[in-house]
Amino acid sequence: MTNPAPKTTRRNFLKKTGAASAVFAVPTIIPASALGGDGKTAPSNRIVMGSVGWGMQGPWNCNQHMNYDDCQVVAVCDLDKNVREGAARHIDEYNKTKGCQAYHDYREMMARDDLDAVILSVPDTWHALTATEAAKNKLDIWGEKPLARTIAEQQAIVKAVEGANLIWQTGSWQRSQPNFRKGCEMVLNGLIGKVKHVEVGLPGGHNDFAGTKDKREITDPPESLDYDMWIGPSKMEPYIECRIHKNWRWNYNIGGGQLLDWIGHHCDIAHWGLGYDNTGPIEVEGQGDFPAPDAIWNTCTKYRIESKYASGVTMTIAGGHRDIRSGTKWIGEDGWVWVDRGGFDCSNPEWKELLKKEELPDDIRKVQLYKSPGHHRNLLDCIKSRKPTLAPVATAHHSAIPGHLGLIAMMTGRKIKWDPDKEVIIGDDEASKLLTREYRDPWKLS
Ligand SMILES: NC(=O)c1ccc[n+]([C@@H]2O[C@H](COP(=O)([O-])OP(=O)(O)OC[C@H]3O[C@@H](n4cnc5c(N)ncnc54)[C@H](O)[C@@H]3O)[C@@H](O)[C@H]2O)c1
Repeated sequence: MTNPAPKTTRRNFLKKTGAASAVFAVPTIIPASALGGDGKTAPSNRIVMGSVGWGMQGPWNCNQHMNYDDCQVVAVCDLDKNVREGAARHIDEYNKTKGCQAYHDYREMMARDDLDAVILSVPDTWHALTATEAAKNKLDIWGEKPLARTIAEQQAIVKAVEGANLIWQTGSWQRSQPNFRKGCEMVLNGLIGKVKHVEVGLPGGHNDFAGTKDKREITDPPESLDYDMWIGPSKMEPYIECRIHKNWRWNYNIGGGQLLDWIGHHCDIAHWGLGYDNTGPIEVEGQGDFPAPDAIWNTCTKYRIESKYASGVTMTIAGGHRDIRSGTKWIGEDGWVWVDRGGFDCSNPEWKELLKKEELPDDIRKVQLYKSPGHHRNLLDCIKSRKPTLAPVATAHHSAIPGHLGLIAMMTGRKIKWDPDKEVIIGDDEASKLLTREYRDPWKLS
């Protein structure tokens, strides 16, 4: 696929003329004449999106955007014909429109000249190719965590997205939840004193998301699925149902196990509370229990990774260890704070009372974190205002780096020294090779 020439889309036109912020920055003052007859946002003022990958996460990502009447999804892409046709019907019903187009090839969908943005909900092996293609087409992006399957792929995404000045939101939606933000503000405002150590508790084992754990024999792929393209840049392997949809996470050919599936959630929050959105550890070592490399589900089931940052802060990332509680716990000289989905705990009962308030009191809340109106709404607002989202691409990159380096440390059995500014492994050629991976022809990451 050759690089398409820059397009003059509706969004690019608005961007160039500066009209985007004038028309969209404050939705409540859009003049009545710009609204449709039913009081809803007129079609010409809607953000037009296409969606790549349906499966488990695609419907949620699409519905959450379509819940806002200034957004319309007009195209959907999936490698399974039955899935994409069902998805197009669902989207039309949800949008209350007709004509959502179903695509087999994301490149064809992204070449449309009426799209403003894309939603990418594809397996990790596909993150880099789909995101860089979207960037070539000047499309703003909702992308999923972890940013990519390897650090080199992540770097390529950051370069492409930042180089084209695109708006990016990562599916690290915990940042939009009040308990996570307030927990981070408590840490950043010094309630626990100088931070010494952080515990990041992730799941261990494997989850049978697709209910296919017993489908372990080699069979022909279903006729509706383009299995060759589904494997994409990864190594071609026989079709075995239990390692395809949803359960691809448990095989390193496509995914990264529980560690990489969750690093973009709880380590993302750990970094946010430390103010480390643009840095990474300097030393990482780890130990894990790995099934045999040729096992169908071969990702690490139990792991413990110890990292050190230049500031002296240390971090334990663990999965399957009972002494490390799920979520994020910052431990300081004067106390600790712990957050998880729907959970908050701390060393001082008074801080629990603070959490119940709308916001921390002003005399404490000197450092104020970005408060989003909802993760998907935040992307739509930023597409209009051209301001950074709550979880921009470089943040997603840094949030996932400790997981990638932890995996490399476990695979090599050695301590990894990392230069967070140059983003290179120091003095270890073998480990450095694991920062990237070979691409299967004809796929190439540019
Ligand atoms: N943010 C969150 O909380 C959250 C939750 C679940 C999943 N995710 C992320 O969403 C992504 C997708 O995960 P999932 O569980 O939905 O996977 P899934 O296997 O359920 O679905 C992926 C879909 O993408 C399709 N697909 C694969 N390659 C494609 C390509 N090149 N072009 C078009 N379609 C393609 C597949 O056919 C499948 O229908 C992953 O990155 C995952 O980490 C995020």
